[in-house]
Order: sequence, then structure tokens, then C-alpha cells
Amino acid sequence: MNPHADRSLDAFNDEDSNTSDNPTIHSVLDARLSRRTLLRGGVGGAATALLGSLALAACGGGDDDDPAPAPAPAPTEKLLGFTAVSKGLADSVVVPAGYTASVLYALGDPLTAAAGAYANDGSDADMEDRAGDHHDGMEWFGLSASGAPSTTSNDRGLLAVNHEATTDERLSSFFLHPNGGTSMLPRPAAEVDKETAVHGIAVVEVRKNAGRWECVKDSAFNRRLTALSEIEIAGPARGHALLVTKFSIDGTKTRGTLNNCGTGKTPWGTFLTGEENWFGYFTRGAADDAARGNDKSVTSLRRYGRNQGAASRHGWETGGADDKYARWNNSKLGASADGSDDYRNEMNGMGYIVEIDPYDKTRPAKKRSALGRFAHESAAFGKVTAGQPLAVYMGDDSRNEYIYKWVSAASWETADASAADRLAAGDKYLDSGKLYVAIFAADGTGQWVELSIAHPAIAGSVTYAFADAADVVVNARLAADAVGATRMDRPEWCSANPANGEIYFALTNNSNRRVEPGASPQLAPDGANPRAYTDIKGAATAQTGNPNGHVLRIKEDAAGAAATSFTWDVYLFGAESSAAPGAVNLSSLTADQDFSSPDGLVFSPATGICWFQTDDGAYTDVTNCMMLAGLPGQVGDGKKVTLNYPKATGGTLTVDTFVGKTPTADTLKRFLVGPVGCEITGLAETPDGKTMFVNVQHPGETTAMADVGDPTKYTSQWPSNAGYGAGQRPRSATIVITKDDGGRIGS
Ligand code: FEO
Ligand code: CA
Ligand code: CA
Ligand code: CA
Repeated sequence: MNPHADRSLDAFNDEDSNTSDNPTIHSVLDARLSRRTLLRGGVGGAATALLGSLALAACGGGDDDDPAPAPAPAPTEKLLGFTAVSKGLADSVVVPAGYTASVLYALGDPLTAAAGAYANDGSDADMEDRAGDHHDGMEWFGLSASGAPSTTSNDRGLLAVNHEATTDERLSSFFLHPNGGTSMLPRPAAEVDKETAVHGIAVVEVRKNAGRWECVKDSAFNRRLTALSEIEIAGPARGHALLVTKFSIDGTKTRGTLNNCGTGKTPWGTFLTGEENWFGYFTRGAADDAARGNDKSVTSLRRYGRNQGAASRHGWETGGADDKYARWNNSKLGASADGSDDYRNEMNGMGYIVEIDPYDKTRPAKKRSALGRFAHESAAFGKVTAGQPLAVYMGDDSRNEYIYKWVSAASWETADASAADRLAAGDKYLDSGKLYVAIFAADGTGQWVELSIAHPAIAGSVTYAFADAADVVVNARLAADAVGATRMDRPEWCSANPANGEIYFALTNNSNRRVEPGASPQLAPDGANPRAYTDIKGAATAQTGNPNGHVLRIKEDAAGAAATSFTWDVYLFGAESSAAPGAVNLSSLTADQDFSSPDGLVFSPATGICWFQTDDGAYTDVTNCMMLAGLPGQVGDGKKVTLNYPKATGGTLTVDTFVGKTPTADTLKRFLVGPVGCEITGLAETPDGKTMFVNVQHPGETTAMADVGDPTKYTSQWPSNAGYGAGQRPRSATIVITKDDGGRIGS
């Protein structure tokens, strides 16, 4: 979701609701597309050095009838040899010359033989049998010709896709309903049922047929999990008192996965999905603190964004008497001591990394509670080494939140790459281990601090009385507070560089950074979050803090996955190319490289390219959201920079930071610009690197609900204006990108 969009409901996407300095988006359709003149330089083979070094690719079994691995690329291939795409405001997907982007899988597309074509006028029903809304993170799981899991198939596979949210205003997901839906309480049951059904995840089979990619609508693999699907609780929170609800009096299960944002792919071939801004879907009564006796659950609820009296994003709790509506009311309503007669503990069932076996829809999904409960983005595995524990890196995307690492207790056994019972492998590596949080020091080093009930600051916390290890992971934010974790500029996705194992984190922006911070949550800049400045949007809208974000990277010490110390620097600072070079545009980005609000970030296993994507509201007066390709070096390849901030009260605030090597035209360039009002997110590739899948989320998000009946007032009509599907309402969709000469994407 775009935290800048001027909608009152955006408070639900960030529990720190101090959004007053975020400007309004009024995108203007302005088809000023111009392509930069061709800059193709000398062609050489050096860039292919990253090939084939990745140990992160998932491995299934049963490759018996797969084709042989793709041959090595021709020696003339030059990564980032394409011509950069210019910034632009067109209502279309723009990719470089020589590439083709086609729409593959859009909101409402049928996923069963029985479901018909999507009418896209609000009349469609049976949304559990269709593509969900707001496509986000996505992973590829190959299928052999016989339908077995395959790590080498390039023409048949499953896409596991997050369906994060809906485009909404005043409660209603207005593009989903005939006349925009009901924007007051109570919400009609039929509208609520439709909205809960478009959230969650999908598994959809895709294949290349006569040279064109298509979805297989009647595939037996197709699957949806919605905001109401039954899901198991796994790890330390399973069966804990904190998870007891009327639906699960033994605390072992819950319903739904919600606001699924980033993703991960395990080395044993399963899908991980992160639950991000789930708290906004729940309401709490105005006197709920007292009803709970002001016990410690109130501290937890406040830390996770639900003060008493908080309204829910969609009013789903008002859909009727059925329990499936009641569960969205997180108030203490019953008389029981343990919460087995109401949903006072329901929010403790959300906020996890959820594991799904994409190849077996008979297996229930599992919420991996050991990896902590917060606003999860992606779950990125570090370098996978036989005999070593596995590390999973994660961000908590809210302003001033933290970066986490999971380290498995079990050491990696390569045989598990083809485990017959994939979720049992998940039990092995994701239920037992240690959860750490990052502390960044000003000198370019950092520490991982274990969130253990044995840590004196956690055991002795006066803010929250942790009961046991399960209480620590369920209230990971409070535990991280206690040990003094570093508050970051909204950690979004992370990904491991296959060339050297370093981990990259997108820090999207933070409107709370101030040279002279006022009351909390304003924060002074520090080494790892060093910028506080003002950017002007449009004619005169001032955006303060760190409006453009940055990409941080860390290098673990010699212990690798199990390391408790690291070094860091900033790979790139987002900025406008015209911004002050020594203060704001610290990476000296050119017009072909400049970007704002990095969010999705994925290293390609095939090419080693660092792809990153924007979910921006700061630079959208000039350009729609985009995707860029980078060929980074390593931590420490740049220099130390000292930023001097004059204080209004006199004196200077001095902040040292470490900036990565300045990119060149050969190491960073813009690859794609999306349609109006969208964010670009999610990326999956076939193993040969020749087919790329990317998601376009919420085109036309800036349309007013009042205009739902007038297509001429939609701020976007994509993808129907690209010839895809019925109706003119904008739809989130997956696109498939290929290179016209059959080469790898990014060459
Ligand atoms: Fe769903 Fe933090 O992006
Ligand atoms: Ca985002
Ligand atoms: Ca600007
Ligand atoms: Ca995102």
C-alpha cells in the first residue's frame, strides 16, 4: 500500500498514524514518454561473472522428465545492456526497447473451470475462485512436464502470489462493488464476503503455450487462501494462552492470512508470505482498556497499533451475526478468564511469516510464530551452506521499526532440498532457533541481539511482563524495544546478494526524521538512517524527513548465518537527480537512475541483478512507480560521508554515514515504469532468467470513490487500456516480461 496516498484510511497501513506531513497524490495523465538515446557500450562478458553462484534456489524433487538446464548465455551478453527507461506519467507499462511486457493474471481472473470471465463491473461473485486483489510479492515454483516439482523447468510452473489489500475509501473497496459499495456501517454481508475473499494468497499454474504465457484456469494446483481460511499456528506460540479464541480454544489455529506483502522461498521448496498491516482490519471498543482491567494485553495492543476505540479499515465486524464477522472485533466481550468465549486475543493470530506448500493444496498453511510477530515484509534466506544453520532476514515495515534475523537451531542438510514432506522441513528449520534484532553503530558495525526471555532487559522489562519464550515472539516489538534495537526508516523487503551473501534492505522512507526532533515518534538522523531534509513536490508541497528512502546492506562477520556482528553501508540513497549532491543525492543518481521509496527488492538467482521497485508518493509529480536494475559491489566499496545539519537553535548536528560506490551507467539503470497510481512490486523468474513476472499493484488508486460510475474520471484504466479483459475499472495484475531476442531479462 502507498503510505503517502491522501486517504483517511491510510492510518490502517501504518500504526503510527502521524501522517499529517504526507502530501496528496493528484497524478496527472501526462504521456511524456521519451526514450533516451541508445547508450549501448562495448559488449563484454565480465558481467556474467555472477552466474550460477546462487545457493538460494529452492529445490523440489522429481526432475526426471525435465529438460536439461539452459545453456550458458552467449559471451556477448551484457547485463544492463538495455537502454534505460525514462521517468514518465503515462498510463501504461513501459519497458526498454527490445522487451515485451504482457498482462498474465489480473484481479478477478478465474482459477477454476467453473468460474467465468471477470466482468469487472462490480457484479462478479465467487471471488474465492478468482484472482485476489492488490498483487504483491510473488515466487516461482517450477513444474516438470508430468507435474512434479522442478527446479529447472522454464515453461511450466506455479506462481504463488500475495493479494495484499484492496483499493478503498471510507470503508468500501469501491471498485469491487456495482455502485462503489457501502461507505457507512453496517457493511452488507455480501460486500464483506467479497472483500475478505480477495485478500490472502493465490497459487496459480502458468505455462508457455505456443510461445505465449497463460494461466491454467482449471489447474488442479490452483489454490486460494483468504482472510478466513483456516491456518495452523506453529512454533512457540502454538497452544499458548495468548492464542486462545472462541474459534480455537486450545490456541492451535486461526483464520486467515492478511495484508500479505513480501514473500520468501525456502531451500526446501515452499512459499513464505509476510503479514504486514493486519492490525487495521480489527476494531476495539472505546472502553476496552478498562474491560481488560488495564492488563498487559493493553500494552501489547497499543504497541501493535490498536488503541481502544480504533475503527477497523472495512467494518467487516458489522457484516452480521455470524462468527466470521464477529472475529474482527478484538474487544474483550466475554466473561471467561482465558478468552475462549470471544476474540480479545484474535490479533495475536496475525502478524507472522506463513509457510505454504505450493505443490500440495491439501496441506494447511502454518504461521511460523518463532520468526516473530510484526508488520512483516519479505523473508530472505542468507547464503545456504551444508552443515550450517539457516538465517532468514526480515523487516518490520512501520516508521521507526526494526530489522530482524532468524537463525535455525538445525543445521542445513542438503537432502532436505528434495524433502518429500516439505512442511516437515519447515517444522525443522522454522520452529526451533533464535530470533535476533539489529543494532546499528555509528562506526559502520552492528550487532544482532537475541530476543530471549533470558535477556536481562527482556526478563526485567518494566513496560511489559514477558511470561515466556512464546510471549517474546508474539510481542517481538516490545522485546526489541527492551534491548534497544535501532529504529529504522521503514524496513521493507530484503534479499541476499548471491555473489557474496551480503543482505540488502529497502528502507522506503520516514517522515519522522528531524534534525531537531520534537516529541516521539520524531527521531534525529543516525548513521544507518542519516538523512533528514525537505523535498518539494509539485508547486510547493514540502515533504520532510527522509522522503526518498535508501537501500542499506550488511555483511555478516566470519560466523556467517549465525554471526552476531556485522558491518554495514548504504548501497544507494533514493533522491531526485537534481537534489543537492553532497547532502541529499549522496549516490549521485542521474536522470536514468533516480528513484524514490524503494520497497520490493529481489536479487535474481539467474543473473545476480539486484532488482528493486518503488511504492512512492514523493516523486509521483514527476514519475509513476518503477523498477530498476543494479549490479552492486560490496559493503565498504564506497566512502565515509559526514553530513552537517545546521540547527535552528544554533550549532550543527554531525552525522557520519557510509555510502556505497557511486553507480555508473553500466551498474544502475531504470528498467520499467508502471501505469498511473500503481506501485511496482513482486518479482519472480524462471530458472533460465528469460521470463520475469512482475506485479502492478493498485493502478488508479487515486481515483475518488465518488467517480466509480464514470470511467472518464478513473486516474487509470490499466490493464483494459492495454487490451486486457472487460470493463474499464483498473485492476492489479501480474505482467510477464520477455526479451524479444530470447535473451535473459536485464541484458
Ligand atoms: Fe506492503 Fe510495506 O509494503
Ligand atoms: Ca509499501
Ligand atoms: Ca520533489
Ligand atoms: Ca510493499
